[in-house]
Amino acid sequence: MRTRPKKHFTPENNWINDPNGLICHGGYYHLFFQHNPFENKWGHMSWGHARSIDLINWEQLPVAIPEQPDHAIFSGSAVFDQANNRLVAIYSGHKEGNQSQYISYSYDGGTTWQENIKVLDLNMADFRDPKVFRYQDKWIMSVVKSKELKVSFFESNDLINWNFLSDYTAPDIQDLYECPDLFELDGKWVLIISTNPGGIYGGSGTRYLLGNFDGKSFTADGPAKFIDYGPDNYAGVTFNDAAERISIAWMNNWEYANKVEREIWNGQMTAARKLKIKNGELVQTFIGETVKFEITENNFEFKYSNGSLKFISENGALVIDRSELWDSTITQYALPVTAPYKVEALFDAGSIELSINGHFASALINVGAETPLLSV
Ligand code: FRU
Repeated sequence: MRTRPKKHFTPENNWINDPNGLICHGGYYHLFFQHNPFENKWGHMSWGHARSIDLINWEQLPVAIPEQPDHAIFSGSAVFDQANNRLVAIYSGHKEGNQSQYISYSYDGGTTWQENIKVLDLNMADFRDPKVFRYQDKWIMSVVKSKELKVSFFESNDLINWNFLSDYTAPDIQDLYECPDLFELDGKWVLIISTNPGGIYGGSGTRYLLGNFDGKSFTADGPAKFIDYGPDNYAGVTFNDAAERISIAWMNNWEYANKVEREIWNGQMTAARKLKIKNGELVQTFIGETVKFEITENNFEFKYSNGSLKFISENGALVIDRSELWDSTITQYALPVTAPYKVEALFDAGSIELSINGHFASALINVGAETPLLSV
């Protein structure tokens, strides 16, 4: 039995995966998401909808964009089209053998959506997850050619006609590309690429590169790093039109998402995080209530009533063992940190998000709504 988290978004019923269409609009943070409205496993992909004022308490609304007769509604983004005073969702329409980019419109702040218009079709089976943002006086789309291991950039003046700009491949990301995000932050450009498999311990994971975007192509300053060292952080993207750069990811892993025990709801998001660049590094901070402490020992554990989450220092890394609290694969993960440990933890039913010496790790664990005891 999984206890429903309190500090993470879960759907009232049925399945969710990727966050979609993240946008701050009309006084709300809107979270659309990959959703099966009928079952607690993947299928009938549609965009579900929730909104929040504080990024902590979410109100779920009716399904925003349902599956269409000839295509499912895969991941994508949303922008405010000021010229026409409407929100525009840009998503991948998926059918066997073809994925193309479509748009829908909302004139009521995201509650109801109309039309499903195909705007970009390259006759490809794996071409998906458009993230659109305003750049100078035009729109830029980053979208993946998943199996070709490319992020492609397109530009448009009207969100309907799209011109190809360039392709980018990260030399060190050699597994399927999904859910890209490109944005400027504190004078740098950040490119996020989700990759499956490609997680550090197998399954799915999310990488990012810092670099430059000149309006046409992206160039990286260095290697692709992991945004999170835990097993359960995937398809994370950032909000459009928010005052700060805020991300949310799906807190799960394709390795076991469809296999683990599920309740009437299945799937949760990570807590929201604020992103900054400091001294040339991407720095994340939690939004939400955390517990902070410093640990000088090499080995310690968090004791829950049904088992322990163990932390073991090994070869310059801190290995976290969730095997007592997890019933599927990827029972260990590690952070590249050594003692002393400055720990910040977001404890919740069903999961733990950690920041240790500035590195993050998200993991699902089978625990109730309790704060664990720390023992060293
Ligand atoms: C990532 C992903 C996307 C796709 C969606 C389908 O988790 O595979 O590439 O659009 O999920 O639900």
